Amino acid sequence: MCGIIGYTGTNAVPYLIKGLEMLEYRGYDSAGIAVTAKGAIQCVKREGRVSRLRKAVDALPFSSTGIAHTRWATHGKPDETNAHPHISKSGIFAVVHNGIIENFSVLRTQLEKEGYAFTSQTDTEVIAHLLEKNYSGSVTDAMRETLPLLEGSYALGILCSEYPENIYFAVRSSPLTASVTPDGAFISSDPSVLTSYTKKAYRLKSGDFGRITKTAVEIFSADGKRVKRDEAELSESDINAEKGEFPHYMLKEIYEQPEAVLNTCRAYIRSGEVFFNSFPFDKKSIKKISRLYLVGCGSAYHAALTGKYVFELLTDIPCEAAFASEFRYSPPPLDSSTPVILISQSGETADTIAALRLAKEKSAHTLSVLNVRGCTMESESDCCFFTLAGKETAVATTKAYSAQLSLIYLLALHMGKLTGKLNGSEYGIILESVMSLPDRIRSATGVLDAQMRNLAKSIKDAGNVFFIGRGTDYPAAMEAALKLKEVSYIKSDAVAAGELKHGSISLIEKDTPVIALCCGGKTFFKTLSNVREVISRGARVICVTDSSHKKECSAFGEVITVPVSHPVTAPSLEIIPMQLLSYYTALLKGCDIDKPRNLAKSVTVE
Ligand code: F6R
Repeated sequence: MCGIIGYTGTNAVPYLIKGLEMLEYRGYDSAGIAVTAKGAIQCVKREGRVSRLRKAVDALPFSSTGIAHTRWATHGKPDETNAHPHISKSGIFAVVHNGIIENFSVLRTQLEKEGYAFTSQTDTEVIAHLLEKNYSGSVTDAMRETLPLLEGSYALGILCSEYPENIYFAVRSSPLTASVTPDGAFISSDPSVLTSYTKKAYRLKSGDFGRITKTAVEIFSADGKRVKRDEAELSESDINAEKGEFPHYMLKEIYEQPEAVLNTCRAYIRSGEVFFNSFPFDKKSIKKISRLYLVGCGSAYHAALTGKYVFELLTDIPCEAAFASEFRYSPPPLDSSTPVILISQSGETADTIAALRLAKEKSAHTLSVLNVRGCTMESESDCCFFTLAGKETAVATTKAYSAQLSLIYLLALHMGKLTGKLNGSEYGIILESVMSLPDRIRSATGVLDAQMRNLAKSIKDAGNVFFIGRGTDYPAAMEAALKLKEVSYIKSDAVAAGELKHGSISLIEKDTPVIALCCGGKTFFKTLSNVREVISRGARVICVTDSSHKKECSAFGEVITVPVSHPVTAPSLEIIPMQLLSYYTALLKGCDIDKPRNLAKSVTVE
């Protein structure tokens, strides 16, 4: 959450504004910019989007050097007062911050006693005042004094009016990249901002601090020693994609799913077999696994829950799926016999990172399923598997989720073979089904687009929409409900179909839309029984099923038909119409589809 950028070179403001526009997916409650000019710091901030700030920056003087911020509010209202940059007492320092300073109220009370007046409710403002308090001519020395006082996480960009062409930075458990390019030198929360100017950048490590000048990046590690870090190549997942002919990134990314799944599968299938370079288990060591945990947040949790069903089916290893935010504070018993698979598109989600660290602490083997190269989780996991979905820009995930599912199927297949649970023919049938997903997803997207556009007209005014399913249809129902609510703001709930009658059915009234996901094979007829129950209470039922079950479902109302697939891979197909339905419903409601309210793509705070 929150995006920071710093630039020193020629003309700072246009570079900073362009960078903020690219970082806006990280939060869009407010935006601000500070530059150095004539020995002082000048600052402009606006509540709301970067487009509002863009109109206000003419007020700034010309400057070669500045820092900027786009905010997802954590401490204090999302208004102009709380917008970054925050300025120190005498105006000598300006600070932009991504992260949370957990002990800020203790620090603030102390600083207030010492006469520092605060103008915002943010945790960040303490940093600006502390830097000033600890400053006696050297900014890096002031940082050496200040940083150890901060508890929590941060990526900081700092301006000091006495060094008007330098940008100072510090990092702890929040992402930050730095690079000197032919256009000038940058720091940025996201390397994709740099891809227009360079192919290489320093991905700073937790504990690093230092400064950039127009020609150099100077890095010190947490112990204060000067260090040399290798520049990393910026990868495909860093490259910022354009919307092209699509009106929104979400629709573009829905249409990119066949490619995302194909590229992911291609990377791990060789000569008709799943192949992982340096897989951490073999036939012998896999027998020592007593339980497998799958952990993630939001959609990544839904992928994890799908994984639980699939891994148990294909490997016979007992599995649990957990929200990272629960796992980290109520961990199950963990040890070297309980590997943990962590799933994260960004690899920067604070709760998932904490779950990873906790698992490592307890000697559990950590395997991460990631999309962004060079992320924090890559550097901390024992072993990483990358989805090749490319850069995902819309806040609501679609293609990265689909790529996660396909990688989970491949991991489960591979482990199923190692445990001996899967015989050659079952393995071959399921692998074939995974390999044919790209074509089937492409066909489902093309065929169902118009139907979903039409269905959206009758969903857009619904007060409440239910999604039901059993087995792997259940996490698919959860993902469908999340997609609809996050982009269209319609209240939507997912209920395990068999649980309806234990409470939620009391909410079913005449014409309440109930979308029944019933592709999961053996529970098909059980779900149909639940469909009958809600129909008896007046619900309007829409069944999502495959063509082999279309006839049975037609008796109950509308049917959305996806291509037939092996039950293991069915979640990848039934989610396609649900993504399209969410998109078109949000479109009809005039919602800000790519940047839904209150959300951010990369949730770097807990
Ligand atoms: C929903 C969505 C979020 C993310 C969640 C985890 O559409 O995108 O629920 O799935 O914030 O993010 P990552 O995968 O980056 O850890």
